[in-house]
Amino acid sequence: MTTNHTEPGNDFQSFGFRPELLSGIAEAGFQTPSPIQRQAMPLVLEGKDLIAQAQTGTGKTAAYGLPCLNRIEIKEGMQVLVLTPTRELALQVSDELYRLGKNLGIKTTTIYGGASYSKQISQVTKGAQVAVATPGRLLDLLKGKELKNFKPTMVVLDEADEMLDMGFLEDIESIFGFLPEERQTLLFSATMPDAIKKLASRYLDHPAHVKIAATEKSSKNIEQVYYVIDEQERDNAVVRVLDYENPFKAIIFTKTKKEADDLKTNLGFKGYAVEALHGDLSQKQRESVLKSLHDGRIKILVATDVAARGLDVKDLSLVINFHLPFDSESYTHRIGRTGRAGKSGKAVTFVTTRESRALLRLKGTSGTELTFAALPTKKEVQARRHQDFLTKILETEIHADAEALFQTLCEKEGKEAVSLKILSQILDKVKISGPEKIGKHPSEWNETPPPSKKRGSGGGDRRRGGGKSNSSNSSSSSSYRGEGRRESSSGSGRSGKDGGSGSKGGTKPHRFRNK
Ligand SMILES: Nc1ncnc2c1ncn2[C@@H]1O[C@H](COP(=O)(O)OP(=O)(O)OP(=O)(O)O)[C@@H](O)[C@H]1O
Ligand SMILES: [Mg+2]
Repeated sequence: MTTNHTEPGNDFQSFGFRPELLSGIAEAGFQTPSPIQRQAMPLVLEGKDLIAQAQTGTGKTAAYGLPCLNRIEIKEGMQVLVLTPTRELALQVSDELYRLGKNLGIKTTTIYGGASYSKQISQVTKGAQVAVATPGRLLDLLKGKELKNFKPTMVVLDEADEMLDMGFLEDIESIFGFLPEERQTLLFSATMPDAIKKLASRYLDHPAHVKIAATEKSSKNIEQVYYVIDEQERDNAVVRVLDYENPFKAIIFTKTKKEADDLKTNLGFKGYAVEALHGDLSQKQRESVLKSLHDGRIKILVATDVAARGLDVKDLSLVINFHLPFDSESYTHRIGRTGRAGKSGKAVTFVTTRESRALLRLKGTSGTELTFAALPTKKEVQARRHQDFLTKILETEIHADAEALFQTLCEKEGKEAVSLKILSQILDKVKISGPEKIGKHPSEWNETPPPSKKRGSGGGDRRRGGGKSNSSNSSSSSSYRGEGRRESSSGSGRSGKDGGSGSKGGTKPHRFRNK
């Protein structure tokens, strides 16, 4: 987000925003509109329907949020509805819209599962103009006729491809049935498979399209490596990466909730400040875990895909994929939790030798540079620690009491012995666990898989299929599609298979289809 004042649309003033909105933008610390903001905002201000795609962390929330806030008429009653796939994202978007629009006197509410119904209903009744909602709870309220005068004229699907995918499509279709025909509909996401774009035309009226292509510079924001390991090396590998990278904050994505809990326990035993986030936690716990990560009380979050989309955690420098993600969209969104708003980050993915086919497919579809590297050895971790330690020592200011203590020690032993003993004291605390070498060196493994006997019958393929069916299995699934559905208070009739509604028009999108 660099500054260049010569191009039109290069500052927020040039969009004709109301002064109160401009002051909110300034208070948020935004100086220059990002490319997606520059291109999408004029179209939204004109009232056009829009399908917009831009990389993770490039300010899509404000790209739809600012022009929608600017278009709100100063009267009470719902005017903007934003739908998001997870509760965490609903809360985050709601906070951001509140922050940007607060000087306009706009009231914002969040409608999501696991929290009080009455409070959410009363905020709508009291005239909130903006609602950010997850589909399950919103639909419960709409079906129960709890929301009076709910006629939003601007509707946004954030993470649109996820919202129109099988897990949510049925709910979204029902929600659209409650919305006014005369409305502006906006779809935003970092990924937009063609099948979803086609499906979107059902809900949009002559939409404009904006796509911000990744540039050399923007795609290099996130350094992406993969390590080849054996199945039983996963836990050691994760510790090795954390020891080596020493991230300011990190997210580790697991396949299942149980795996997230187990890994959290393991890392906790090893002394890391870590928590798990997944759909089996109470809403209170989920919010408290995320707050701890934001505040820096924990440095590591082990999460299922519930945290994959949209979440914006400042200074998150490392993403670890404990397993190869199921598809390129999932990969893109997960790694996009780092390298946001122009910052840089690193994404690490563990791959087993049996997953070469799935890896090649991912490399082919994600369009990003994913390079094979050797996991750091114990010696390399030690060398890096020593380097960091030296830098720290050289930058340390001398403590007022240090001189006197040093003199006392030197009277007992020589200067050199004292210095070496102090260093040894500190170095003794730096223990690096695990075997010297973990995983394969690039010279030991060739990613090209042997030719398959039957087309489409590779082991990796089956695993991906297995992952999909997991998403409707509530007990072990990591999928937040499943978790989202459990938001429904009644649960009845809506806990079934994800596929149901998508089959209607025969255009059922399938995210695991080869592209
Ligand atoms: N113009 C701007 N200048 C500086 N920071 C900005 C600007 N616009 C947005 N940001 C900040 O950039 C971060 C990323 O924004 P946001 O969450 O909207 O990204 P996104 O494109 O929606 O990403 P994702 O695809 O992961 O949802 C946020 O912290 C946001 O406050
Ligand atoms: Mg977003």
